[in-house]
Amino acid sequence: MTKFILGLILGLLILPAVVWGYFRFGHPPVAVADRPFPFEKDIVREPLHARIDREMPASAPITATPENLLAGAEVYREQCASCHGLPQRNSPFAAHMYPRAPQLWVWHRVGVIGVNDDPVGETYWKIDNGIRLTGMPSFSKVLNQTQMWQVAVLLKNAGTTLPDGVVKLLNQPLVFNPPGENQ
Ligand code: HEC
Repeated sequence: MTKFILGLILGLLILPAVVWGYFRFGHPPVAVADRPFPFEKDIVREPLHARIDREMPASAPITATPENLLAGAEVYREQCASCHGLPQRNSPFAAHMYPRAPQLWVWHRVGVIGVNDDPVGETYWKIDNGIRLTGMPSFSKVLNQTQMWQVAVLLKNAGTTLPDGVVKLLNQPLVFNPPGENQ
């Protein structure tokens, strides 16, 4: 019995010591290019999907009118394109983030461009809440609900023939003005 208790106490001490040692002297991933943690994907992705499935709105309260698509494209250029790119331009740094920011205007396979295969409510949830421990920000304090729906509806319709004005806007390169210029 004493041996068992001694073993138990030792066991209880050794595990935290090993974990502490790993974080202190090991090489846990901290740089973008480091290899992922063991089980990192399972630990992070599964709960995210479960949560989104539970909470995402079933459908969009707005439809893909030319006005909504245009407003969505304006929001997209201002708030999203720097990370997620434009149809003809990749973000310079998206591939050097961990996790990387996916190009949302690239065809993955026939019929699938960016996230148009995700339910519109799932994309809305991601814009609204952001994705923790990634570079994906929460826009709930930056955009209003209509704007978040407009950009979600735009991404849902990325594979359709978009109105000319929307295509033109999305094809214009981004201009980064250093502070102080153009005043
Ligand atoms: C600072 C960079 C950054 C900005 C700005 C940003 N995102 Fe993201 N976004 C990310 C990253 C990084 C991920 C990948 C997260 C992951 O792997 O889970 C992501 C993921 C996503 C996803 C999920 C992609 C997928 O394959 O499931 C969607 C949808 C998305 N972002 C939409 C947007 C929209 C819309 C905006 C603008 C309102 C935006 N993002 C702004 C960095 C950004």
